[in-house]
Amino acid sequence: MNRKTVLITGSSSGIGKATAKYFQSKGWNVIATMRSPENEKELNKLPNLLCTKLDVTKPDTIRKAIDEGIKSFGTIDVLINNAGYGLVGPFEGAGKEQIQRQFETNVFGLMEVVRAILPIFRKKKKGSILNVASMGGRITFPLYSLYHSTKWAVEGFSESLQYELEPFGIRVKIIEPGAIATDFIGRSADSTSDQAPKEYKDFTDIVYGNMMKAMNTSTGEQVAKVLFKAANDSSRRLRYAVGMDAKGLLGLRKFVSDGILFGMMRLSLLRSTKSVA
Ligand SMILES: NC(=O)c1ccc[n+]([C@@H]2O[C@H](COP(=O)([O-])OP(=O)(O)OC[C@H]3O[C@@H](n4cnc5c(N)ncnc54)[C@H](OP(=O)(O)O)[C@@H]3O)[C@@H](O)[C@H]2O)c1
Repeated sequence: MNRKTVLITGSSSGIGKATAKYFQSKGWNVIATMRSPENEKELNKLPNLLCTKLDVTKPDTIRKAIDEGIKSFGTIDVLINNAGYGLVGPFEGAGKEQIQRQFETNVFGLMEVVRAILPIFRKKKKGSILNVASMGGRITFPLYSLYHSTKWAVEGFSESLQYELEPFGIRVKIIEPGAIATDFIGRSADSTSDQAPKEYKDFTDIVYGNMMKAMNTSTGEQVAKVLFKAANDSSRRLRYAVGMDAKGLLGLRKFVSDGILFGMMRLSLLRSTKSVA
């Protein structure tokens, strides 16, 4: 059997780790990349899986991981750009460096990995690039302005890129998970709230409280299964939503006016917000 090979970024936890395990269990070779492979205790015990270092903000690690993957498995068929995190809270509390780090990881880092893989896919006249965006790449929630701007950027980048890569047999696909139970909300998140003016506090408390009540999470494995489907899908389909929340909200975005959508968002997330005027 000719095994296919996938390279995944951000495989140390959550969606990336579940995806590495899922592809491996389906008979693929997996290049599971992460910032600190020396801390990995589980993936490196699996056959046909190479655990190696890749920090999307460090281009030399991207090149090395790709070279090492090709040395181990001969080629790469699918790239999954999964690494990313959320900077959340009032925009006014965000420092320039926090914003830069958010874009360096979620947008420019992703682009650097794409840049590094393209010569390989172009030469083969084949390959798939799967970019993990979010339902938050086409809709927005309050207090997520910076995270959303990165995911909207990933959506626009990917949507346009699909056309110019098509003549080379390269597919681009966007995965749009809803809320997923991972380290995203805890360990990985960065917050602007501590530096935000105190006038935002009531608003922030109410929005986060309402969000917790409304949240309905899916699992990393559910995303992994959709990524697997997309990796094996040679059609031109671009977008794959994951989870009832993502499917529902992205459906609403398509079928109702902005006014109705924003009204529904205010009703469910801003209820009992006191006037801050
Ligand atoms: N969870 C959700 O609700 C949700 C919803 C929609 C979209 N997403 C997207 O799904 C992707 C995965 O998130 P997750 O939910 O699985 O959260 P997670 O468990 O926090 O995983 C995030 C991963 O990204 C890695 N990472 C962060 N900065 C990196 C960098 N500079 N270079 C390489 N890797 C880096 C982390 O590595 P370290 O262990 O080294 O920190 C970790 O492996 C993200 O792009 C996120 O935006 C998540």
